[in-house]
Amino acid sequence: MILVTTAGKVGSEAACLLTQREVPVRVLVRDPEKAKALANAGAEIAVGDLGVPASLDEAMEGVTSVVLVSPAVPAQELNVVASAARAGVGHIVKATSKASADSPIARRRWQTEIEAGLAASGVPHTLLRSNAYMQNVLALAPAIAKTSGFGSAAGKGRTGMIDARDVGTVAAEIAASPAPHAGQTYWLTGPELISNYDVAAVLSKLLGRTITYTELGFGENRDAMIRAGVPQQIAEMNAQAFALTADGDAEWVTDDVPSLLGRPARSFEQFAADYATAFS
Ligand SMILES: NC(=O)c1ccc[n+]([C@@H]2O[C@H](COP(=O)([O-])OP(=O)(O)OC[C@H]3O[C@@H](n4cnc5c(N)ncnc54)[C@H](OP(=O)(O)O)[C@@H]3O)[C@@H](O)[C@H]2O)c1
Repeated sequence: MILVTTAGKVGSEAACLLTQREVPVRVLVRDPEKAKALANAGAEIAVGDLGVPASLDEAMEGVTSVVLVSPAVPAQELNVVASAARAGVGHIVKATSKASADSPIARRRWQTEIEAGLAASGVPHTLLRSNAYMQNVLALAPAIAKTSGFGSAAGKGRTGMIDARDVGTVAAEIAASPAPHAGQTYWLTGPELISNYDVAAVLSKLLGRTITYTELGFGENRDAMIRAGVPQQIAEMNAQAFALTADGDAEWVTDDVPSLLGRPARSFEQFAADYATAFS
């Protein structure tokens, strides 16, 4: 049995692919209503909370591998690691980012703390260190639909953006056959570096009208996200990440996805076409 915490962008894809391969999979969610499609596809649903260790211990029954993909909150993810260690789980696949202990972005420092706890637990594991997810662009869809434009503090910076579905596919693959991946860190990216000007060009072609990208300052970008409903702390961290992107921080692309999956990583064009209805 593979346990996937949670049914977000990456977790739902991983769980769905495992059900298609008829690998027994259990998904930990807070709200089973949100996991109905996964239940219909054949996944077992465990209702629990990452902040409640007893619910994790219950979900960990009979589990051989865990896909750990949730907000990078150290206390919560370390609860999962401790529960997995208690249950004698054989492998944890952890979704993470370009983490470092001295990053100016709190979320990246928290990821480092979680990774250190995972290493100290002794549970064999694999780190999936992904570049920014293409699905983040979906957060801009309402603004694009309304104003035919979007803005960011990322300037002209380019990103090796990855489709979160590819991260989910890699996670499922490793969780199902973990042995060769123990102790490995994979740097997951899409096939190319793209800027927000490229994003605007792809969306303009897809939608048949001009989508305009505007370069914003850090504060302007943070405040726009807060106005759009993003919690203040998350808006701050996102705007910090975009400002670093402007300075080349996300300019990295690897062959890890094709090496692991034996097929190319999805391009931004493919992603945009698959999610076209969200932008129109
Ligand atoms: N987004 C990116 O560009 C990016 C890039 C690299 C790495 N990462 C890393 O990937 C990981 C996942 O990020 P994401 O953006 O993919 O997440 P996401 O899609 O927003 O999914 C997070 C999930 O966690 C669930 N959740 C939140 N708190 C919970 C709790 N206390 N108990 C149980 N479930 C809970 C949410 O469920 P509800 O529906 O109940 O809220 C949601 O389904 C993070 O570690 C992040 O740092 C993200």
